[in-house]
Amino acid sequence: MIHAHMTAWFLALVLFFVALGLHKSGKEKGAKIVQMVLRLFYVLILLTGFWLLFSINIDLMYVLKAAVGLWVIAMLEMILIRTKKNEKASVLWIQFIVAVLLVLYLGFSLPL
Ligand code: HEM
Repeated sequence: MIHAHMTAWFLALVLFFVALGLHKSGKEKGAKIVQMVLRLFYVLILLTGFWLLFSINIDLMYVLKAAVGLWVIAMLEMILIRTKKNEKASVLWIQFIVAVLLVLYLGFSLPL
């Protein structure tokens, strides 16, 4: 399940940047399709993440890891929406970078 989880979040990050790139180059239709696929990946991340969470002896650090994971997903979605509306997303970008670094740190440092 850990591999499914890692594949899911890795592909989600790739799809996120693909969607942004398509939007920036004016390909709205493509961007929309990629964003829909991306939302499917959010579900996969959530399913695998909660699966992992409930298959271990939960302690606070894992719950924190999961919360930061949710924060990352929220930022991905909000950045895409703001960018689509041509609104500023710099505060969201900062949060995104902090959350990703934190989730990677927590994810890889916690023993499974
Ligand atoms: C985009 C968001 C996310 C990223 C980048 C991410 C990243 C990671 C990473 C790097 C690991 C460690 C893999 C390893 O040890 O080999 C991991 C494990 C884990 N993730 Fe996520 N994750 C995300 C979202 C979530 C969500 C939403 C949840 C819960 C609802 C979650 C729950 C877990 C749990 C319970 C583990 C196993 C404990 C651990 O080794 O840290 N993750 N994740």
